[in-house]
Amino acid sequence: MTPMVPYIPENAPFTPAQRAWLNGFLAGLFSTQPVRSSATVPETSPDRPAVTILFGSQTGTAEGLAREAGRRLNEQGFSATVTGMEAYDPSRLAQERFLLIITSTYGDGDMPDNAQTFWDFLSSDRAPALGHVQFSVLALGDSSYPHFCAAGKAFDARLEALGARRLYPRVDCDVDVEAPFEQWFRGVLQALQTASATQPLRQAA
Ligand SMILES: Cc1cc2nc3c(=O)[nH]c(=O)nc-3n(C[C@H](O)[C@H](O)[C@H](O)COP(=O)(O)O)c2cc1C
Repeated sequence: MTPMVPYIPENAPFTPAQRAWLNGFLAGLFSTQPVRSSATVPETSPDRPAVTILFGSQTGTAEGLAREAGRRLNEQGFSATVTGMEAYDPSRLAQERFLLIITSTYGDGDMPDNAQTFWDFLSSDRAPALGHVQFSVLALGDSSYPHFCAAGKAFDARLEALGARRLYPRVDCDVDVEAPFEQWFRGVLQALQTASATQPLRQAA
């Protein structure tokens, strides 16, 4: 049986960033597989537009923020799925409409380990055109490194090059994630609400 993953409630005495980190930590601690996706996904329907959130994370911060974003989007009437990049099947890109990327940077401007395979695919010739996708990137990093937020910047540029449209501009977090996450999330939510109210909800099959 899959163990229940404990969750830090919103009224617990933590900042959103602390809560996000703790929830990511707990998800990792209680998961039965290596960093992977979970998310209780509400049924997708025309009233609940699907949003895919992919995270690249080495030590859990980006994962925690991804789960926090997913939880809030579901509360706001979307059907958000939170998935570690290592567990994402890239053939699903053909069906995506709203794609959010939350990733840290590791090594010397490198992808986190769990993002490498997906990045190898996306940056290759095998990557599909993504004209049907609207996306936004939250990049985590530390400006004391020479390649600040390089992984997030690379995803942002590559998605644009593949034809995807930016739902909201990339936000870079410099060590402190709380305020930039809040700014990014508010902007993304507003853009999602506008986009899903004014455009057809599903791509033709
Ligand atoms: C060994 C190591 C290497 C890092 N390399 C970079 C880097 O090249 N560029 C950058 O902007 N941040 C770098 N960072 C900072 C992380 O991206 C940042 O701490 C991030 O919030 C971690 O998120 P995560 O827990 O989701 O992996 C590095 C951190 C560590 C510990």
